[in-house]
Amino acid sequence: MRLKDVFVELLKNKGIDRIGTSISKIIKSDDPIQKMAVYLTCKKASVCCAKKKLKYSFDLNGNTVIAPPQVYFGKCGGNVILTAEELLSNAKKVGFPYILIDCSFYDLHSKKEKKSLLIQIRETLNVVRRFMWDERLIVTLNCGIGVYYPSTPEFIKKKRVKKVVLLDPNAGKEFDEKKAECYIIGGIVDKSGNKRGLTSKIGEMLEKEGINFESRKILLKGDITGVPDRLNTIAEIVLRVVLDGENVDTAIKKVQKPIIARKRLAKELPKIATRVDVGKAFRVVCKSDFEKFDWLNLRKEDFYKVCSQINHIVVSDNVMDEIRRCRWDEKRERYVLNLN
Ligand SMILES: C[S@@+](CC[C@H](N)C(=O)[O-])C[C@H]1O[C@@H](n2cnc3c(N)ncnc32)[C@H](O)[C@@H]1O
Repeated sequence: MRLKDVFVELLKNKGIDRIGTSISKIIKSDDPIQKMAVYLTCKKASVCCAKKKLKYSFDLNGNTVIAPPQVYFGKCGGNVILTAEELLSNAKKVGFPYILIDCSFYDLHSKKEKKSLLIQIRETLNVVRRFMWDERLIVTLNCGIGVYYPSTPEFIKKKRVKKVVLLDPNAGKEFDEKKAECYIIGGIVDKSGNKRGLTSKIGEMLEKEGINFESRKILLKGDITGVPDRLNTIAEIVLRVVLDGENVDTAIKKVQKPIIARKRLAKELPKIATRVDVGKAFRVVCKSDFEKFDWLNLRKEDFYKVCSQINHIVVSDNVMDEIRRCRWDEKRERYVLNLN
């Protein structure tokens, strides 16, 4: 469930199924209903009686319909039908989580990394807005994005948050669909130096402050390779799983860039390749092996690119059948071809 689902439910209960607006950012948005819900929480606009004569409106699925709206979304003045308070009190019942970016290690970053960190925090806010609203993003860096708290323990104690999950690639346990009230992501960018293990240090700091939490790593089929590590993608994976009910593998594939998928493929291909000896040893894969990797966000060209980079020869299924009819060298685990 996303914030827009709470908004839609409230509109439906008021007998409304068409809403209009003149706010261009909402009209142009690819999710106008979610955007309206977010605007409402920030009190940028509210829902009121339709006074303006609009020809178009949105249905509650966000489709444009050629019909005047029943209610108007914008600066209302009077006649408010749905307030931010009503939406937020209903959203509270759903139990949307907090996404907290812990920036305790900000000073260890280079100038370039700090810039990248700010970009990733801003992108995380965009992710949060696609599922929830601004107040659900907590940032322990006073950068004007999300809600600022000086430290994670301060936020957790003040808000009396009970179930806390620290997302840590070095954790012992795997992240699953289990829900928490707050997900902590390390405000860490790995472009230079060695920041390996820093997220666990955040855990140590929480322990010292007496905060109860669980550490979880996000894995793709048992391996961290292939899991994108940008803060916004980590936030999106978590929200897709806990709010949309997607499984972890599906959520990862949706946010995975081909470059990350290629890295994982390079690790997987040697495991399925057939070894062939023609005086010199080769590793061979079938064209159709591409289909075995439908759990990665790969295009055909990515498959061929990786094969070429790791020196795996791609052959047709017929050629592979021919290879498998050759002599199998048990000891060296390869087929031996006599080309003479
Ligand atoms: C670029 S990562 C930094 C990881 C850091 N070098 C370390 O070894 O702890 C930024 C943040 O994204 C989150 N993260 C990245 N990949 C993750 C994974 N596979 N599982 C859980 N959290 C992950 C963590 O919260 C981490 O602090």
